Amino acid sequence: MGRRALPKLNPKLDYSDYYDEIGRLPDDWKLSTLFDPTIPLEVELGSGKGLFITTASGVCPERNFLGIEIRKKYANYCAAKISEAGRDNAFMLQGDGLLFFHKFLPDKSVDDVHVYFPDPWWKSKHRKRRVLNESYMQDVIRVLKDEGRFHFWTDVEEYYLSTLELLKEFPVLKGPQPVTAKPAEHDMDYRTHYERRTRRYDRPVYRSLYVRGC
Ligand SMILES: C[S@@+](CC[C@H](N)C(=O)[O-])C[C@H]1O[C@@H](n2cnc3c(N)ncnc32)[C@H](O)[C@@H]1O
Repeated sequence: MGRRALPKLNPKLDYSDYYDEIGRLPDDWKLSTLFDPTIPLEVELGSGKGLFITTASGVCPERNFLGIEIRKKYANYCAAKISEAGRDNAFMLQGDGLLFFHKFLPDKSVDDVHVYFPDPWWKSKHRKRRVLNESYMQDVIRVLKDEGRFHFWTDVEEYYLSTLELLKEFPVLKGPQPVTAKPAEHDMDYRTHYERRTRRYDRPVYRSLYVRGC
């Protein structure tokens, strides 16, 4: 399944308050310049077209949401979407989420980490490019608060099973806990665009949830 072209953005829309680039952050950048640390924070790596961050930030206005997307045009698109929706609890960063987690997210600063339908990198020689690798999972565990949650969904069974195997090496993450899918009530009632596409093709979605122990 290929990717559909992104719809055009309204050229008059100023979404600069919702967008920055990891490559422009100073080395001593602080998360507190974006979000009040007393408010729960959810971080999504690989936001794609931004359905999750746009919807979730509307459903949970009492929490903050940070999306990270490496592809510039998608990161811009997500920022425009959250700006159009008038969210004051969401922000997009363009750049490498793995680097951002490692360098900029403080210990025990995040309540939920979301990774939905990460690029599968099918060929075995490319597998090392997968975002769900040992070093990233160490950062996920470091940044999650006690009882914080790690959400991972994919349509690639092999990626799902090999990640579950990898996560066995981290017993502090309790899971996988069962996640039940509900029927979609409207055309955009999916967690992400990739979930929407996968379910519309009647293909299975593999979902897991882990909770960080204390
Ligand atoms: C297959 S798409 C899924 C998008 C979205 N999560 C969804 O479910 O619709 C994977 C996304 O992760 C982004 N991505 C890949 N590596 C990344 C990284 N290191 N940091 C941030 N985003 C990344 C890709 O650009 C792409 O938009």
